[in-house]
Amino acid sequence: MDRKIVIAIDGFSSCGKSTFAKAIAKRLNYLYIDSGAMYRAVTLELLQRELIHNGGVDSSNLKDLLNSIRIGFSYDPEKGVYATTLNGKVVENEIRSPEVANNVSLVAAIPEVRERLVELQRELGKSKGIVMDGRDIGTVVFPDAELKIFMTADPVVRAQRRLKELRDKGIDISLKDVLRNIEERDYIDQNRDIAPLRQAPDALVLDNTNMTIEEQMAWVESMVNQLIV
Ligand code: CDP
Repeated sequence: MDRKIVIAIDGFSSCGKSTFAKAIAKRLNYLYIDSGAMYRAVTLELLQRELIHNGGVDSSNLKDLLNSIRIGFSYDPEKGVYATTLNGKVVENEIRSPEVANNVSLVAAIPEVRERLVELQRELGKSKGIVMDGRDIGTVVFPDAELKIFMTADPVVRAQRRLKELRDKGIDISLKDVLRNIEERDYIDQNRDIAPLRQAPDALVLDNTNMTIEEQMAWVESMVNQLIV
């Protein structure tokens, strides 16, 4: 019988982690959890409550707020995808806005936020058979994951991919601004004090600058096959 495993995918922003993670989950019939969406949902909530000002977060009632907000993923059978929900409402589009992107790394550097979201992520991954992507999945959330992948790609290629994604959604933004946001987030993610973006020592590196999704799938399938049979 096939053994269910945990697959942890970490790496820089806009590397195509979520496309890759979703494809693996679909192929293996595993649950896919986008941990970045959870940080984005908390950021959206803080922005909606006007608790982010001039690069700072008003943290006076943060613990209560974190305990009261509900973050989930609801399945859309028509589109065949999961959509992020915040307090029961689908916020998939709102959490991908440039405003959220510009503030999310600031929010993700707050210890209370990480503590609460890591708790929720471990809960979601309890039953194995899961693919989770983020920045600290193989290092902090699931250090015992059977398969850890660290994704990277050239920053300009990453910015071009993200630009296409945003323009397809009708968001008007320049390549320069997208690249600046990616570089800023990479910097904050790698240099924060808690759970910085790091490659786990036992992670396999996947540089997909010049790879198609099919090539990436062929690569990962050979890794997974060695682990689950
Ligand atoms: O979409 P993209 O790959 O650029 O980022 P994301 O996965 O949606 O994550 C958004 C932000 O959340 C990242 O830039 C990190 O600051 C933060 N994050 C984190 O700190 N830890 C995670 N496990 C996932 C995301």
